[in-house]
Amino acid sequence: MKVNLVQEFRIRFHQEPQQIFFCPGRVNLIGEHIDYNGGCVMPCAISMGTYLAVSKNTDKRLRFQCMNFPEAADLHLQESYSKAGSQWFNYPLGVINELIQNGHSVSGLNMLFYGDLPIGSGLSSSAAIEVLTAFAVSNLFGLNISLKDISLLCKKVENEFIGVNCGIMDQFAVAFGKKDNAILLNCDTLVYEYLPFETRDYVLTIINSNKPRNLVESKYNERFTECGKALKALKKELPVQHLCAINFHEYSAHRHLINDPVLERRALHVIAENLRVGEAVDALKARDLFTFGKLMYASHQSLKEFYEVSGKELDTIVDFCKSFDSCIGARMTGAGFGGCAIALVKKNRYDYFIAELSLYYEKQIGYKPDVFASEAGDGVRLLDQTEN
Ligand code: GLA
Repeated sequence: MKVNLVQEFRIRFHQEPQQIFFCPGRVNLIGEHIDYNGGCVMPCAISMGTYLAVSKNTDKRLRFQCMNFPEAADLHLQESYSKAGSQWFNYPLGVINELIQNGHSVSGLNMLFYGDLPIGSGLSSSAAIEVLTAFAVSNLFGLNISLKDISLLCKKVENEFIGVNCGIMDQFAVAFGKKDNAILLNCDTLVYEYLPFETRDYVLTIINSNKPRNLVESKYNERFTECGKALKALKKELPVQHLCAINFHEYSAHRHLINDPVLERRALHVIAENLRVGEAVDALKARDLFTFGKLMYASHQSLKEFYEVSGKELDTIVDFCKSFDSCIGARMTGAGFGGCAIALVKKNRYDYFIAELSLYYEKQIGYKPDVFASEAGDGVRLLDQTEN
């Protein structure tokens, strides 16, 4: 950790933190805008994330502070809470509210967060702070809530308290992450398996477009609604619960029911992307990283053309990657509309890649991207006090 969280906790709260927890962010390797359509996704947790130092207090206050933001909250412990403005502390507040609604009794808490994830860049900083809070509270009060229930509870907070109609992918990925593995998650059944993600001579590279992400929530909710409309139209003749339950043949035979070119494109992306996840699983199992990379490019193209959630910045990054011979695959990751792309870049050309990409991107866009080398990492956990 780049900061001394324990020391800062002592200064701010005049007590020792009882425990320190960590929750990573995530990237999604493939399967984008699939989770809320009942298909399969393939995220992995990463090494960057959010830390929490926490202690119970005896004065029945919920105190939320963060080293990344000046805004803080100091609230009476009460029976329920609702979202207050758009401050960061709505995430832990929403989680504690949900725990209370589920009948868990919680005493006062002093919480200090610190994140080394670029915030709001599509690496799931919000899922990380939610899962981190739920895991820490469950641990501190011996609630024994399973990781699966923590993921579901945090998704509910995001949907109902925060107001974003997200699927389960981010919360599940940051809870269940496993070092050197991707998670293949069926978002309909929540059945999952770990797939060894061996990048061998390649670096899993995260490129932050640094595009300010305005209106992401409303655009995201718009896509959610569009998929619902497409599904409703197809359901007139197809007995399915999700878009991902439809295959290409059925889609071609019934797409006329949708009768709206925009909605048809959205459904086409979802159905094709879900099939690509299946192909990506085969490629990983066959240790065929080249095919995996091609599927990443195909995924990006579909997100750009059919789902329309990319944008000039992310397209500029992926176009550069395509032209760089030592990059075998790249795509936007997460919700889109700015945020991050991921790429598989040959290790011995990594530094050159960063230098060339930065030059190209700055020339096209006007400012630089940030580039990070990452690995698939473990999920939420209690840290040994010496680890910080
Ligand atoms: C965001 C949401 C996820 C998922 C992705 C797109 O990260 O939180 O649930 O829908 O976008 O795949």
